[in-house]
Amino acid sequence: MGGFGGINIIGTGSFVPEYRIKNDDFACFLDTNDEWITSRTGISERRFHFNGKNSEMAIAAARNALEDSGCFPGEIDYVIVSTSTPDYFYPSLSCQVSDALSIKGAGCLDVNAACTGFVSALDIARSYLALGVYQKILVVASEKLSSHVDFNDRTTAVLFGDGAGAIIAEKGEGIYSSYISSNPECEEDNSLYCKVNYEPNHKFENRYEQTKKTPHMFMDGKAVYKFAVEVMQTAAEKAAEKLGMSPSQFDIIIPHQANIRIIKSAIKGLGLTMDKIYTHINTRANISSACIPTMLDELKKSNRLERGMKICIVAFGAGLTFGSICFEY
Ligand code: UT7
Repeated sequence: MGGFGGINIIGTGSFVPEYRIKNDDFACFLDTNDEWITSRTGISERRFHFNGKNSEMAIAAARNALEDSGCFPGEIDYVIVSTSTPDYFYPSLSCQVSDALSIKGAGCLDVNAACTGFVSALDIARSYLALGVYQKILVVASEKLSSHVDFNDRTTAVLFGDGAGAIIAEKGEGIYSSYISSNPECEEDNSLYCKVNYEPNHKFENRYEQTKKTPHMFMDGKAVYKFAVEVMQTAAEKAAEKLGMSPSQFDIIIPHQANIRIIKSAIKGLGLTMDKIYTHINTRANISSACIPTMLDELKKSNRLERGMKICIVAFGAGLTFGSICFEY
């Protein structure tokens, strides 16, 4: 895997929504409290992009990454956006980003692997870069979970947030390996889903009766928790193994932010301690695929990334999907 070259991240960006929602804000209308949420999840607050669109966040994060890289929009030759909460079925979020930033003529692709989406998107980008098909790829992950959680359901409403992160990648010479996998579920045994609000209606005369309700997320938290602890370990180990390494040899591990207890259990299972693990779940909650690129941007902008550092990113999500990338910054 490493023989094809790695990735060189030349710019990072993110968008942090304005509205800060504390745990106690939920206690006003749900049977919950700060103590339960903090101790069971590690979340104290989250940001919501109320009254706004996902595309606004994606565009802002992408613009921020472009500025950070010093690239002109015209230099970007491919745009990949990970999202499971788009504004439209089509056009894609990647087309909206390209249009807004005048990235003319670039290829555009949206990826939906739920919370694993950024890992999958970055792996696609690396393949194109390794083959020399494209030279500069913008990879964005942008999620507006606040539009899809049921605010009457305390078991999911408190867990999620909104946000976007972006990176610009070129071909690099450092190590790289990935492990992308899934444990697909069918409709009957689905532990995490958000159904498209469309009921097949073959009768033309009934066309106005289709429901207008916004689709909401459903989750069997315990099932996802168990799956997550196991596959986070598997994915990180398998990706590292392809390089003849183990996760302990990486300088920073950046895991998906669903629950601090999931992260701690997986890290313990890998025989590691929390000192190399970067998290921001406390202030951002779970922003699905946007977690990892947002954390990369936080690390870069606070001067905690150095060239040559070995980074392991690892995620899991609906599908169920999971994956990890080990690379040199
Ligand atoms: O990105 C991927 C998507 N998400 C995840 O990966 C989430 C994975 N799952 C989890 O993080 C955890 O399973 C949860 C945080 C969702 C739940 O934590 P838990 O420790 O597994 O709690 P539980 O489901 O066993 O519930 C314990 C109790 C229940 O009450 P009873 O039946 O014991 O009376 C729940 O109804 O806690 C109750 N509960 C709450 N209480 C106060 C559930 N949510 C809340 C809440 N506030 N928000």
